[in-house]
Order: sequence, then structure tokens, then C-alpha cells
Amino acid sequence: MDRHWFSDRLIAWYRLNGRNLPWRDTHDPYRIWVSEIILQQTRVVQGYDYYSRFVKRFPDVEALAAAEEDEVMKCWQGLGYYSRARNLHAAAKEIVAAGRFPVGFQEVKKLRGVGDYTAAAICSFAYGMPCAVVDGNVYRVLSRCLGIDAAIDTSEGKKVFAALAEELLDKERPAEYNQAIMDFGAMQCVPSSPCCVSCPLAEVCVAFRTGKVGSYPRKKRKTKVTDRFFNYMYVCAGAHTFIHRRGPGDIWQNLYEFPLVESEKELSWDGLSARAEFGRLLQGVEIGAVRVVASGVKYVLSHQIIHATCYEIVLSDSGAELPGFRKVAVADFEKFPVSRLISRFFSIVLKPEI
Ligand code: ADE
Repeated sequence: MDRHWFSDRLIAWYRLNGRNLPWRDTHDPYRIWVSEIILQQTRVVQGYDYYSRFVKRFPDVEALAAAEEDEVMKCWQGLGYYSRARNLHAAAKEIVAAGRFPVGFQEVKKLRGVGDYTAAAICSFAYGMPCAVVDGNVYRVLSRCLGIDAAIDTSEGKKVFAALAEELLDKERPAEYNQAIMDFGAMQCVPSSPCCVSCPLAEVCVAFRTGKVGSYPRKKRKTKVTDRFFNYMYVCAGAHTFIHRRGPGDIWQNLYEFPLVESEKELSWDGLSARAEFGRLLQGVEIGAVRVVASGVKYVLSHQIIHATCYEIVLSDSGAELPGFRKVAVADFEKFPVSRLISRFFSIVLKPEI
């Protein structure tokens, strides 16, 4: 396939159908960096408002570097993959210390949380450099169009696609070409049931011709998903509750949550209250009343399914303390960055009982 024909078709499609997005109106590497980190694991419709709020609150790298980590996390709350926010914040401090935003692919790639894809996006959009982006959209478009059988979850497969993407990149218009292929993948060449009859590449598309659109891109392995069982306890002592900050090495690092007992299976209240860990968490306090806030909630992450239950436990003594937990006024709870799951439980707790 002629690469000029390919890029002309893509760019013509993009000029008619491409989305008008705020990070496309700028060459500011900071804003482009923020947008690409948000869009790494988030769809444009969800990322849009987060981006607008984030750059309003932190309009430049100096403002981000000067912020408290809790505030950055609060801005990210609900977006998931929270290491992105921690990395952005830490990298902002490094950029400010260095005195300028990095320039050039290798230098940009040294920023925390920036891999080949994000470095190529920043370099092409901010600096007009001829770097091809390779993300899920690009894998799909190229594998279908050219009938590439290499698996995208293997290092050999990744090399095949990276080389192909470099070859097809429009070196005169890298920014527009990259935006075009990403939007084309997100809007036209979608994962399931794409509308191939209206596709400007259908006449050359191998997958379309062979009736195998649904089989591309190919993967070697299925993603392994682990089930986990979380038993949260919203513990009330008068107008106060107890929270702690999650540590490293697991999901939701540095976000706050209620006391938690993790179990290997679904537990009833009797099963939970018989656990040694439950006894340790609530040692020396007297329980006045218990109610189920929500049970059997399924929270799906990319590699884990969290099966969560939350109990409200009212302590008899409003002056009680829980060792290892921070006692906060219920009215202040919303100031802390929390996972979407905790936020959902908290909003149920606040609802008046029917
Ligand atoms: N996904 C990742 N980067 C993007 C961008 N710049 N525009 C639209 N979708 C994207």
C-alpha cells in the first residue's frame, strides 16, 4: 500500500470527522503531556472534564509542582490508575528543578510515567517531530488494514507494529497524521462492529476483504483477572469516622479508605466479625449498632474484580479511637482523595434511611 495514499485518506477523513478537543488547540508541552497521561487509560469522553479541571487548577508545570500531593490526587479522584497522578506530580517537580520542559524523544521518555507512546505524542504534537504514536487504536487500524498477524502482547509483535507505524507516518504532517489515526481508531475502526461500508480504507483493508475484521488485532494470551473480596467498615464515633491512607504495592496507593478486611471469599457479617483481623481493628471498642451499607458490589478493574461489601458500625463511645486510623469529622471526609468505590459507599451512608 502506498503510504501517501494511506495518510492522505486518513487525514482527509480526520478533517471531516475529527474531534475538536482542547489539547489540540495548543503546542504547550505541559498541557499536551497532561492530556496524554489522562488519555493513557481513559476514554476521551471521560477524560475531557478531568483535563479541563486539571489545567484550570494547575495551569502550568510550576503550579503542579508546588501543589500538595493530596490535592493532585483529589483532582484525579474517580479517574483510576492513580500512579499516573503521582508520576505527573513527581515529574513536574523534576521539570521545575531542571528549569525547562524536556525536548526530544529520549529526553521526554525519561519523565516518569512516559513510555514510547506518550513521548511520541508529546514530541509530535508539541514540537512537530516525526515520531509515530502506537497505541491500541493504531494496533487495530494497522493490523486490520494490512492483515498483520503478529500478536500485540508480545515483544516481537510490538516491534513489528512500531516499525510499520514509523514507515507509514506522514513525516511532513506528523501531528495531524497521529491525531488522525487515533481518532480513526476511536471513531471509525472501532473494536466491535465497525461500519466498514462507510470506511475510506475499506478498498485496501485486508481484514475487510477476508471477512476477519473481528479477529484483529491478534493477542497471544487472555488477560488474567483475579477476584478479590473487600469488607469495608464505615465506623462511626459520634460525628467522626476513621480512615487510613493505602500503602504502596497495591491498587489505590495513597488514596484514603475505611478500615478494611480482605478475605479470600464472600463473607457474611458473622463470618467477618469472627475474623482475627476484625478483632484487631476494633479491639477495645464497643459496637452499638451495625447495618449493611451495600453488599455484593462488583468493581471491575483491568486485572482484578473487587467484590465489595460495606458495613456501617456505630460505636457506643463517641470518644473512641482506632489505633492506626485517622479520626476525621464526617463533614471533612470529602476533602480526602478516595477511590470511586469508597466514594460510592460514602454517598450511600449519607443518604437518609427510608
Ligand atoms: N487518545 C490518546 N491521545 C489522544 C489524543 N491526543 N486525542 C484523542 N484521543 C487520544
